[in-house]
Amino acid sequence: MKNNQELMEKIVSLCKRRGFVFPGSEIYGGLANSFDYGPLGVELKNNIKNIWWKRFVHQRDDMVGIDAALIMNPKVWSSSGHLATFNDPLVECKKCHHRFRADHVKAEKCPDCKGELTEAKQFNLMFKTFLGPVEDADNTVYFRPETAQAMFVDFKNVLETSRKKVPFGIAQIGKAFRNEITPGNFIFRTREFEQMEIEYFVKEEDWKKIFEYWKKEMWSWMTGELGLDKKNIHELDVPDNERAHYSKKTIDLEYDFPFGRDELYGLAYRTDFDLKNHYKEPPYEDAESGEKFYPHVVEPTWGVDRSVLAVLCDAYVEEKDRVVLKLKPNLAPYKVAVFPLLKNKPELVEKAKEVYNMLKKEFNVAFDDRGNIGKRYYSQDEIGTPYCVTVDFDTLKNDTVTLRDRDTMKQERAKISDLVNRISESLNG
Ligand code: GAP
Repeated sequence: MKNNQELMEKIVSLCKRRGFVFPGSEIYGGLANSFDYGPLGVELKNNIKNIWWKRFVHQRDDMVGIDAALIMNPKVWSSSGHLATFNDPLVECKKCHHRFRADHVKAEKCPDCKGELTEAKQFNLMFKTFLGPVEDADNTVYFRPETAQAMFVDFKNVLETSRKKVPFGIAQIGKAFRNEITPGNFIFRTREFEQMEIEYFVKEEDWKKIFEYWKKEMWSWMTGELGLDKKNIHELDVPDNERAHYSKKTIDLEYDFPFGRDELYGLAYRTDFDLKNHYKEPPYEDAESGEKFYPHVVEPTWGVDRSVLAVLCDAYVEEKDRVVLKLKPNLAPYKVAVFPLLKNKPELVEKAKEVYNMLKKEFNVAFDDRGNIGKRYYSQDEIGTPYCVTVDFDTLKNDTVTLRDRDTMKQERAKISDLVNRISESLNG
């Protein structure tokens, strides 16, 4: 396990220096563990979300997507049980008054000053705001703490417009908000984050089989699309007293982050709890038998920010003379970088721009004419660019370039006309 604070600091520093992730509102001193994705971070994050959507929505016949409002009618949250039970146990130090999540504190002493802690009390994690100009109880609303509830609340509308039959799923990617007592570990635990969730509707008798099926799908996503090393992934069967109020069975998929092993994703059997709470009558009718019933729900859920973090930690490699992000090419912010061999030779720069513009029609491409080629390779390796293309004097004669592979560092001569195919092939692996 990579339990290494120094490694984490290096990753956080690379993220800031190279424009993956910045501290939010930094010029005003930041804001309690909020982060902004920079130019490279947004590319990595969008790649993850787009690949997810392609795999789990577009490539399947049994899935449709939605994109719901962040603020829903507050009755959603009383029906779903979140207002009553979406709590974490809070303790406060009697000496320094710092607050902690009781289940995160070891030895029942304040982690900051070793002072005595108060008894735990329940703290609701829902983020409150007001709808309209009057700030009173009647206008209190909440930012959603999970994207999931919209799939239940919109269930009938989706059913009527998509004509899907059980088993089928509704997918959504979007922001969720939780007033976490102790956010921390960079983008691992924040108060505003993104989720990719599927509510998969099944007949009650099928839930176990489908639960196992989704567990395999999640493993295949982690080791396939994200390219995570399976040695770093572990399953935790969450015990009864630690499961969310809606779940009858939960498996956490944990990852060995540099700060320790912790939850990356979750898979829960939510029974018919949510649909029963939202609908007085069974919302589903079997087309053949005419039987009306409440479908049961298997919910695989993926945190987007934790995906980004796991991918960065897994891909970060220090070699003798370089730092490399060995990102899968499909995730890399830039697929290729183009360099003119020399900056002060206009004919090389012009040709390199031509190659750059051609490749830009297909991929996100970097252009760099600073320093020497070695420094440019170093710079692209550190942000995970799978290929570098150098335009030199031979290019002007025979339309070939030097194509350099990030992982092997091998260089070969390639025809400009072959570049798009060569790079595209690597994205399918
Ligand atoms: N709908 C089910 C649900 O929300 P969850 O385990 O509470 O389940 C799902 O959250 C995923 O969302 C987690 O596995 C994690 O990846 C991500 N997540 C939860 N809280 C988070 C936070 N405070 N910051 C970043 N990601 C978070």
